[in-house]
Amino acid sequence: MSTISVIGAGYVGLTTSACLAHIGHEVICVDIDQEKIRQLQQGKIPIHEAGLPELVQTGISNRSLQFVVGAENAVTSSEFVFLCLPTPQKEDGRVDVDTVLSVVNQIREVISPGTIIVNKSTVPVGTNTTLATTIRRDDVFVVSNPEFLREGAAVTDFLQPDRIVIGANDSKAGDRVAQIYESIDAPIVRVDPASAETIKYATNSFLATKVSFVNGLAAVCEAVGADIDAVTAGLGSDTRIGPRFLQPGPGWGGSCFPKDMHALVRIATDAGYEFDLLRAVISANEQQFERIATKAERLLEGDLVGRNIALLGLTYKAHTDDLRNSPAIEVAHRLAKKGAILRAYDPMVNSTSDIPNEIEIATTIENAVNQADLAVVLTEWPEFASANWPVLADLMKSPRLVDARNLLDRDSMIELGFRYDDLGRT
Ligand code: UDX
Repeated sequence: MSTISVIGAGYVGLTTSACLAHIGHEVICVDIDQEKIRQLQQGKIPIHEAGLPELVQTGISNRSLQFVVGAENAVTSSEFVFLCLPTPQKEDGRVDVDTVLSVVNQIREVISPGTIIVNKSTVPVGTNTTLATTIRRDDVFVVSNPEFLREGAAVTDFLQPDRIVIGANDSKAGDRVAQIYESIDAPIVRVDPASAETIKYATNSFLATKVSFVNGLAAVCEAVGADIDAVTAGLGSDTRIGPRFLQPGPGWGGSCFPKDMHALVRIATDAGYEFDLLRAVISANEQQFERIATKAERLLEGDLVGRNIALLGLTYKAHTDDLRNSPAIEVAHRLAKKGAILRAYDPMVNSTSDIPNEIEIATTIENAVNQADLAVVLTEWPEFASANWPVLADLMKSPRLVDARNLLDRDSMIELGFRYDDLGRT
């Protein structure tokens, strides 16, 4: 058992805190947001994350998890201080590490000798070394331990990870961090801090590239009469490629992929290498938003002015309430620009959510499609797959549907009378 404080109660900090408490540590989770902490002390979770409320409740009841305001109040008696802080993207694509640096400055004098600072925030290569020099203490160590948590599956990803990456210059400090994860059955990848930081960017950039590759492939399938499902089945059976992350969609989004892609391009440029491959992937992803809008336009004979379009799904993927950098919102912007009137239904979004004015929110799927000229499936929510499509078809002005997630059965939809389009299926 170790004593750990986790600074930052966002997606990563909260998941990390609850999971570390679950595997037997004594955890204090800290944030500057007093209201958030007050809610968390009562077991109220501000985000939608499967399994997290239960872990937080258990942690609070068995006193392995506490929530407090202000880092200085928490860190003095902790053996480890985990940094789970926001590192937003700046205008020029670079990463803003000001919060991380300011927190480290704030705690540097109050942490006890022997404390290990474990950085989970995604930071440019070299930042962990900068943190160590900022602390200016020989008796404190900085270790990089990037997170690979998918929203919606964060708890599972924490407790059953593919690997745990530990980047440490001091091998004893690295050993101590590895011990924290003793009860988790996963390979531990021990590297230097710069490599740990790079692994994080490499992973997300590679995955985004994989998704854009398959989106491009779907476009080719449409043009040549091949079927994307058959093609990805064949492609993914090559063990060098693997079957995951081969699902075509409206483009990749979320709080990590876009930010990390731009950051890696910037990191490379600053270091003297032009990573044009990644630039092309970013631009292909933007084209993908446009491709979906064009598909809608085509089903409506080229004219979107004043046409009612139902958007099914707004979050950047299913099983999250997160709208950050959502491809669905990107597609919506393009449709609105072409003159369409938009009504959206998403099980996790209501009228108080942070959505652009051009989107009206419906509270049911039926309300969204009622009298619509066309519907577009933008998020792969299971309830769209199991919806009563014969009834929905009757509610629409005309049954037309762009399935930007390949969620529905193409033949059945066409049989129901839909003018239907999807990605690369024949
Ligand atoms: C990602 C990484 O997976 C995680 O390791 C990291 O630390 C944070 O960023 P997340 O943002 O939760 O996690 O999303 P993820 O499930 O990876 O999906 C990213 C985007 O790719 C989504 O927009 C998703 O819809 C899209 N995607 C994913 C596809 O379009 N097709 C796929 O096959 C997989």
